[in-house]
Amino acid sequence: MNKPIGVIDSGVGGLTVVHELMRQLPREKLIYLGDTLRCPYGPRTAKEIIRFTWEMVDFLLTKDIKMLVVACNTATAYTLEELQKKLTIPVVGVIQPGARAAIKSTLNNHIGIIGTEGTIRSNAYSNALSMLKPDLYTISLACPTFVPIVEKGILSGSLAERTVEHALLPLKKFDEMDTLILGCTHYPLLKEVIQQVVGPEITLISSSEETARETSTILQINQLLNDETESFYHQFYTTGDVASFTSLTKRIFNSSIDNLKSVAIEKAVI
Ligand code: DGL
Repeated sequence: MNKPIGVIDSGVGGLTVVHELMRQLPREKLIYLGDTLRCPYGPRTAKEIIRFTWEMVDFLLTKDIKMLVVACNTATAYTLEELQKKLTIPVVGVIQPGARAAIKSTLNNHIGIIGTEGTIRSNAYSNALSMLKPDLYTISLACPTFVPIVEKGILSGSLAERTVEHALLPLKKFDEMDTLILGCTHYPLLKEVIQQVVGPEITLISSSEETARETSTILQINQLLNDETESFYHQFYTTGDVASFTSLTKRIFNSSIDNLKSVAIEKAVI
């Protein structure tokens, strides 16, 4: 079916999932929306996260998407169930796939989770992990300083190192941890610095690979895979400034994104 897959995030973080979707599903057309203007979602209330996410979803529904990927852990934590209930298209989030990947990786059942304040507050990861495997030891830590530096394009260097080192200090107490979940789609962009800080013996888990795999399975089961051969191009939207989104994506992915437009999605609150 030659309809696009919609992908949403609060900013550029979801592009880490897009990257993997493009790799695993090269015949699928993607429409991405990053709510850069209102990023970060992490420190916001549940009510705001739910409203903003629905505004993104409503925008993508006007593009006739056949499936939705919520490439934001914070939005997944607060809206996935509701989206799955209310939408008539399949919806996947990034938390369940991330939890599955962590369980596959751990050898000693000690798993760390880092994410935004909203994601950590929701306990969505610890719940997803214990549903799958109850005998796990977990530690959760909010890292509110990571998303702002990633959105500024600071992915390496001394400021990134100091920020990560300082934020991850509490993890030192959990010294048996062998697996660390990067529970925010912005964090894989800081992966090298995080790995350097926690040490090479800890496996870092980003949910993008597993999310793309799940997307692929769902498309197949529902007979939604693109079976047409005509060429297409992906589309990208930001609620913020096109120039700064472009320069950031260029730096992150080493290539520019064509077809990026700015869009206003905020609805009047009555
Ligand atoms: N990238 C998002 C996530 O996975 C949210 C970052 C934010 O807006 O705080 O949680």
